[in-house]
This record gives sequence, C-alpha cells and structure tokens, in this order.
Amino acid sequence: MPANIIIGTQWGDEGKGKVTDYYAKNADVIVRYQGGSNAGHTIVVEGQVHKFHLLPSGIIQRTKTNIISNGVVLDPETFFSEIKTLEDKGFVVDNLFVSERTHIVFPYHKMLDGAEEAQKGGKKIGTTKRGIGPVYTDKIARSGVRVIDLIDEGALRAKLEYLVPQKQKMLSMFGDSSKLSFDEIFNKYADYGRRMKKYVRDTSVMINDALDQKKFILFEGAQGTHLDVDHGTYPYTTSSNTVAGGACTGSGVGPTRITNVIGVVKAYTTRVGEGPMPTELKDETGKHIQDVGGEFGTTTGRPRRCGWLDLVLVRYSCRVNGLTQLAITKIDVLDGIKELKVCKAYKCGSGGETLGDFPASEKVLAQCEPIYDTLAGWKQYTEQERRDIVKKGSAAIPKEMKNYIKHIEKELKVPVKLVSIGAGRESTIEV
Ligand code: IMP
Ligand code: MG
Repeated sequence: MPANIIIGTQWGDEGKGKVTDYYAKNADVIVRYQGGSNAGHTIVVEGQVHKFHLLPSGIIQRTKTNIISNGVVLDPETFFSEIKTLEDKGFVVDNLFVSERTHIVFPYHKMLDGAEEAQKGGKKIGTTKRGIGPVYTDKIARSGVRVIDLIDEGALRAKLEYLVPQKQKMLSMFGDSSKLSFDEIFNKYADYGRRMKKYVRDTSVMINDALDQKKFILFEGAQGTHLDVDHGTYPYTTSSNTVAGGACTGSGVGPTRITNVIGVVKAYTTRVGEGPMPTELKDETGKHIQDVGGEFGTTTGRPRRCGWLDLVLVRYSCRVNGLTQLAITKIDVLDGIKELKVCKAYKCGSGGETLGDFPASEKVLAQCEPIYDTLAGWKQYTEQERRDIVKKGSAAIPKEMKNYIKHIEKELKVPVKLVSIGAGRESTIEV
C-alpha cells in the first residue's frame, strides 16, 4: 500500500493521531500536508502521552522520515518548542524535514485572528487563535512568507518591510491597539530561519522519490472533512483543504499516486467551536460522553460538544474523499449506554422532508432534525476484559459492538478495517 491518506470524517478530533501512529509502524514516511498548530494530535505509547500540534505523528518513531509539506502553515515557535519537548524526554529528532514552500505564521497572524474574532462578536467562528485564517489569507493574497524566505535574511527583510506596516493598519482597523516592532519580529524570525535551515528540503521530490522506491507513505490529515474550507460547514471551518485532495496539492503528489484513503470515524460526534450540529446532545448522555471520552480540546482546552454518531455527515465524507476504508475510534466510550442512536438522515423544512445528503447551507443545517436508528448498547468492560478482546482479535468483539460496526459499514458501504477500543497504541483491533 504505497500512498495512504488518513482523513478525519467529522469535525476533527476523530483520533487521527492514534490511527496514524498505528499505521506508522509499517510506514517509511509520514507527511503533514495542511493546517498548522490549530491541530492537536494525541498519541499514547506505553502510558506516555504525547501531544503534537504541528509535528507529524510519526516523529516518535525514529526510523521514519517525517515531513511538513507545502500545504502546512508553520509557526516556528511551536515547531521549535515541540522539538525541544521531545528532546527533553530523551527522543532524538533527526528525522524531520520541512518544505521550502511552507508558509510561516507570524505573531501578527495570531493577533489578527483574535482581533477579527472579537470584532465578529456573536458571529465569531470560534477559531483556535493560532493565526490560521490570517496566514492562509496572506498565502492566497500572494504576500505570504515561505520557509525559503525565512532562511534568506534579505528576502525576509524585504517581505516584512511591506507586511509589518500593513498588519499594523489591519490591527487598528480591528480595534487592536498593539504596536508591532519591525526589529523585534525581524530579529526573532531571522534567528528562527538560521535554526530552520537544516530541516529544509524540496519535500515533493523526497515524497515522489520514496513512492518510486515503493516505500509506504502516510499522509496525516489534520482537522476533519467538515472543517474543510470548500467542503465543510462554511464559514464555521478552518482555512485549508482538509479533504483527501488536499494531500495532493499540499504535498506535491499527483492524485494517480494515491492508493488508499482511510477515513477515521469517531463512534459518536463531537464539535469544537461554533456552528450547527444536528445530533448534539445537551443532556446527561452528552455530558457522560464528554466526561468518559475526555472531550476537551487538545489545543484550546475548550469542552467539545458531543452527540450521537451522524452518518449523514460521514456519508458525505465518504463521497468527497473517495474513502476506501474506515477506522472506528473511541467505541469504548459508548460502553454501558443501554441504547445507542445513529443518525441516518435529516428531517428538514416546514414540510418535514427527508434529506439524505448533507446541505451546503448553514441555515438549512440548523433546521435539520436527525432521524435515528436505535441499536442495542453493550456493557461496561473492564481494562482486563478489553485487553483480552484485543489479544483475541476481531472475533472476540462483543456481539452488540460488532452490530454497531456492521451497521456503520452497511450504511456507508465502505469496509471497516480498524477498531480502536482505548487510548493506547496497544488497544487497536484489525478487522
Ligand atoms: P481555526 O482552524 O483555528 O481557524 O479554527 C476554525 C474552526 O476549526 C474552529 O471551529 C476550530 O474549533 C476548528 N478546528 C481547528 N482545528 C481543529 C482541530 O484540530 N480539531 C477540531 N477542531 C478544529
Ligand atoms: Mg484534535
């Protein structure tokens, strides 16, 4: 399986980090291709918890090549601090490469992100305030600073001479009275540039060469399909293409080279930030799922809104990503809930028509009522029982849990190949 893309099928936080880490054991190269430090990928190995916002999830496996490709927006502060955290834990980071074409996040992007949200008031998006929208805006406006400029002091100076005064004006326009210092920004980033040099490569060449050599590549998506700027619940989205196509544009690989697109489906639905969510549970069950699932943002600490599995949402993801297989995560969080509901369609509009496809309009989505199938739940399993299930493999998956998985497969018509029943790397079952 040479080129595999791992995609979140919901609103992010599906457990992509864990699934990436699992498949990474066979992979040679792991690529982060979009987003930036808005992401939060948690990996638990032998009880040790690692949280990454920017570095690819293969970074703790030293034998792998880890790439941050052109589609990512890189905040050097996060980049160097994540490397330092790993080194402090005793890891050696000599397996990391960054594309020359990757765009750089500056302090003013983060300030503008906050200032613009504040100005939007009740219409805010609920961003992670990592500067993601503003830095992609600069990229599309063709005034961004790329890694290739960061490592070239002359180019960096010239770009910042134009950008700093422009951002100063924009900040005051958004009612932020902070003063930007050209010297401070330039000196700090010129230093980042010097430290960055050793990581910089033409990563498209690296990835395509690896494909020529039949190596196993994992493209690690960040956020989820419904946060995609084109296909997501716009405007409550992030600013990049989180869908499978984004792996191609975001890394310089042609679509004909992709073999597999793996969709990660959390066994229920969560959402951070604003925007409609048809299966949201504002009751005890929602609270229970939030507590048991630890549904608090890795990046912002905000509580995630929780609800039943929404297959309208995931069916849409199967289509726009061309998913070839699914990985179900956090199914253990549903332990002990007597009856489980799974949304198969929406009822919508004054006539209460059934809507099988996910709507483009935020207004329509806000009016959608979920139509549920009810499935039998299963008991609460102990750690020991779960370990036994994992050891015995897919045949040992309890009957009701198996039914839940089969139901997802039947509704989506995509095979489930992986089921995760706990946070650790060791609690994953191949189906
Ligand atoms: P931004 O990406 O910081 O601009 O945030 C835009 C929207 O995407 C907000 O609703 C965020 O909560 C959401 N978001 C961004 N990154 C993630 C993620 O990694 N997981 C879940 N939600 C995210
Ligand atoms: Mg996350």
